[in-house]
Amino acid sequence: METQQKKTIFSGIQPSGTLTIGNYIGALRNWKLLEDEYHCIYCVVDEHALTVRQDPAKLRRRCAEVMALFMAVGLSPEKSVLFCQSHVPAHAELSWILNCYTYIGELQRMTQFKDKAAKHENNINAGLLTYPVLMAADILLYQADLVPIGADQKQHLELSRNLAIRFNNLYSDTFVVPDGYFPKVGARVMSLQEPSRKMSKSDPEDTYIAILDEPDVIARKFRRAVTDSEACVRFDPENKPGVSNLMSIYGAMTGETMEQIEAHFAGQGYGAFKSAVADACIAVLEPVQSEHKRLMADKAYLEQVMREGAERAAAIANRTLRKVHKKVGLAPYTL
Ligand code: TRP
Repeated sequence: METQQKKTIFSGIQPSGTLTIGNYIGALRNWKLLEDEYHCIYCVVDEHALTVRQDPAKLRRRCAEVMALFMAVGLSPEKSVLFCQSHVPAHAELSWILNCYTYIGELQRMTQFKDKAAKHENNINAGLLTYPVLMAADILLYQADLVPIGADQKQHLELSRNLAIRFNNLYSDTFVVPDGYFPKVGARVMSLQEPSRKMSKSDPEDTYIAILDEPDVIARKFRRAVTDSEACVRFDPENKPGVSNLMSIYGAMTGETMEQIEAHFAGQGYGAFKSAVADACIAVLEPVQSEHKRLMADKAYLEQVMREGAERAAAIANRTLRKVHKKVGLAPYTL
């Protein structure tokens, strides 16, 4: 009974690269905070990853790796539904149906499509264009009320909302119209080399800290992070984007405010500051890494979690999909 009164949260993360501290601070850590108050469904969206060419063995390993990371950061497979998108065929099926209610113009206008098309000009496949429709299917299948996302996914969520409204208007109420959920805490983590860009797992190695990076790698990457010539730890994202980004990371890892950090490092050079940022990250990531290692060694348990998650997800998703089939007039089936 209680779970029915809770609002539903859905979010997904792509297994297209190794997850970074940006994913940790901006997504995973917040996902955990939502587990008690909401009915949470968290998905490894492996089908989305196919929109750019992937090495099959790596993709397979990363799916397991992300699922293990979900649990290593403390997400509970009992409280939340943790699953892998491709294990629930309803996603691809609803995506097809929603494609028929989406205008090509709407998809061509998406900034992410334009960016990705420019970046992968030899592989501008149809999936790159219809990516947001699959994302809408992910969300709408679970009648999600709230969708935690980064600012870069706002446009995609807007499309999900429009599709839900469009469908509901054509066929009567079918989908919950989802809202974005933007956590108050959780700084936007930027690239260590180009602090005007978001930290991204698909950029070169030295621009991001992976959740699974070894301590010496973390220290080295921070040591090489771009700063400025002022030699003063001061929060000023406009004029000091590199240092401000390091401060945000330090703040996210320690809970200190920007003022406290400024006071803490007053009179100290960037060298000392950078090693403190590295130490703070290492301290937070170490328990996550050791739990991750333990889980990755227990394949049977990991597979069991994925299987049970997929079963629970499918039960919800298929209910919505059946409703949709009926509304649009697909041939009824009795099995
Ligand atoms: N497109 C999202 C991203 O790259 C991932 C995603 C896929 C997602 N389906 C989703 C996020 C559904 C939230 C809800 O970040």
